[in-house]
Amino acid sequence: MRENKYSPLGAGGKLRIAIQKSGRLYEESISLLKECGIDLRNVKDRLKTESDNFPLEVFFLRDDDIPQYVEDGVADIGIVGENVLYEKNKEVEVVEKLGFGKCRLSLAINKNEEYISNYLQGKRIATSYPVLLQKYLNDNKISAEIHEISGSVEIAPGIGLAEVICDLVSSGSTLFMNGLKEVETILESQAVLIRYKELQPEQSEALNKLVFRIRSVKKAVHNKYILLNAPNEKLPEIFKLLPGMKSPTVLPLAEEGWSSVHSVLSEDEFWEKIEQLKAAGAQGILVVPIEKMIT
Ligand code: PRP
Ligand code: ZN
Repeated sequence: MRENKYSPLGAGGKLRIAIQKSGRLYEESISLLKECGIDLRNVKDRLKTESDNFPLEVFFLRDDDIPQYVEDGVADIGIVGENVLYEKNKEVEVVEKLGFGKCRLSLAINKNEEYISNYLQGKRIATSYPVLLQKYLNDNKISAEIHEISGSVEIAPGIGLAEVICDLVSSGSTLFMNGLKEVETILESQAVLIRYKELQPEQSEALNKLVFRIRSVKKAVHNKYILLNAPNEKLPEIFKLLPGMKSPTVLPLAEEGWSSVHSVLSEDEFWEKIEQLKAAGAQGILVVPIEKMIT
């Protein structure tokens, strides 16, 4: 077993999490912890902070460094984009996909160029992701020249550094503003929670609690609470449409022969279900967000 050489007793039993200090994952990483009921002191412009109501210490780091910190056990866990994680290729475990920070690593060229087959052969490609790009080139038997730069990759074609770029695309506006078009996707990415391989028991326990809370928050975001009224004779058909957590709750209305039905619906099938429920005789449908969902 490898020793956590930096704090064998684990900083007073606290779980140490590394998150991005600024950039695309910062806001949502902080929000996720808040939604998990974890209060943090002074998050703005700090190197680290801690929580008073959960055994958690937070380190704010450059996202590119997070996999290394977690591999070394300097941080027990971290929130990082899969793009960075797979580029850095460190020995850490992925605990959970977090569903935010979605983007893709793509190849883009001048929008006026025709993207013919074998276009990439022999071209110069500018990127901050040389490892992932090289793997893509190898897998596709393309030989091209990789120019590694650390930022502002999108300007490379304009200044004559490269014909192609390999960079993150989220909304696509950076490419658009630089007169580029996306031609291939190399990796689909989102934020993930990663962990050090040999956690101490105390940290492990805190991590389990955190993951339980994260899953409850994610489920809640994914589901809506629905209330509707229906005549009693329509209830069997309506029940068939409602999965609920166990089964729907049914309460009699003051009006004879009518009931109020409460249940939970997943966002994916939401609109379709609402239409089916209306068709089945539901009225006065109310939809309410769920804050936490414990199953
Ligand atoms: C990435 C990428 C682009 C931009 C694309 O940078 O390098 O500049 O996002 O996003 P868009 O499609 O929504 O315009 P990021 O903000 O992640 O900063 P980074 O340079 O630290 O990766
Ligand atoms: Zn970065």
